Amino acid sequence: MIYEEKGGRLHFDGCDTVSLAKKYGTPLYVYSLTDIQNRIAELRDDFLDKYDNTRVAYAAKAFSTSAMLKLIDKEGLSVDVVSGGELYTAISVGFPAERIEFNGNNKLYEELLLAIEYGVGRIIVDGIEELQIIEGICEVTGKKTNIMYRVTPGVKSETHEYITTGKKDSKFGIPLDEEVFYPAVEDAIRSPWVNFIGLHFHVGSQLFDNGSHLGALDVLLHHVDEIRNRFSFEIREINLGGGFGIRYTDEPRRPLSYFTDPLMDRIKGHYKELGLDRPTVVIEPGRSIVGEAGITLYTVGNIKDIEGVRKYVSVDGGMTDNIRPALYQARYTGVIANKMDLGKDDKVTICGKCCESGDILIKDINVPSPESGDVICVFSTGAYGHSMASNYNKNPIPAVVFVKEGKDYLVVKRQTYQDMLRNEIVPSWMI
Ligand code: LLP
Repeated sequence: MIYEEKGGRLHFDGCDTVSLAKKYGTPLYVYSLTDIQNRIAELRDDFLDKYDNTRVAYAAKAFSTSAMLKLIDKEGLSVDVVSGGELYTAISVGFPAERIEFNGNNKLYEELLLAIEYGVGRIIVDGIEELQIIEGICEVTGKKTNIMYRVTPGVKSETHEYITTGKKDSKFGIPLDEEVFYPAVEDAIRSPWVNFIGLHFHVGSQLFDNGSHLGALDVLLHHVDEIRNRFSFEIREINLGGGFGIRYTDEPRRPLSYFTDPLMDRIKGHYKELGLDRPTVVIEPGRSIVGEAGITLYTVGNIKDIEGVRKYVSVDGGMTDNIRPALYQARYTGVIANKMDLGKDDKVTICGKCCESGDILIKDINVPSPESGDVICVFSTGAYGHSMASNYNKNPIPAVVFVKEGKDYLVVKRQTYQDMLRNEIVPSWMI
């Protein structure tokens, strides 16, 4: 169990969270290495070891610090990066180039140059102009690169509109229109500078139904067949994206196999019928690897009890370290980490310290009566919390600590005021 209650205090992967809050200060992101490693073990059991010729590329956007990418490397997974910064982080920890995949709907020239010079395993091309830029860079550097095309399969997914990506009206991917897609495929096949290896889709995030993945797969397989028929060209790799949902409050998290088994069955069946070897199959989970492994610790400050309206409990972080409630109306749950043995007889709203009324982390939650100085723990903040953090109101970005079986390891130091000012300049004429 990664959560335990001992002496009225919440313990996380063997560590007393109240002591962690004291040692490192708050707000504090804490990740259980045991939980991350258990998720990776599930990926192995249910996908990598179960089906040969498969890969998992961790979507670094969910949480991408140096230590996390080193862990992913050590676990032997690939990594999906979407910016020069994520790519640089991977390079800086010596991530093997062939296990890096580069996604993104507007990769900059400098980013593509860095990727091609480092020799990344694949560039997942998101638009037809991108191919020309890549070819130009390959010509200049004399290097050939593997590419895939990300397509928009035109399926809908049941999730927040901001994180649905597979429908046709999307800034992501190449539409599968006859006059757009097939000329692009032909260009890629004929290009002397790229190896065109496959197709990619990502239908959305935080999904609990495998229907959109399966629907997108059918569309993809149809086009794989068309490409074979028209160009006598065999697609060697298909990437099914990520998006597997996790538990924030009471969502019914599904095992990975709920998604991967029917997808693999369909792919295997399709190729068996054709009498062909099936291509490599890749998935790109982010949230489902780190989401539930992370918690955030805060210290309670002001408490404002508005008679007959609401009791606001302010903490020392907020939308700067977790933008998800404000951006997606995401729901979280939490506890008072130092009052685990007391009855939850108070109803409060936990809010942040930013100058925004929408800076609410958890609305109307039952907890023991809170007091200033209490430590609040918010669960399942491991994905898209730290990676979407900001310096709004010039709040420093919190530290990140990894814990495992009672030991704690600082992996990101808390930002200081000086860190925030490092790149600021007051022109001399103002002084
Ligand atoms: N692959 C691609 C191409 C993606 O665009 C994404 C997520 C993933 C993989 C990983 O999806 P995951 O397994 O983490 O669901 N900030 C939002 C989520 C944005 C997801 C964007 N793409 C949130 O906090 O919910």
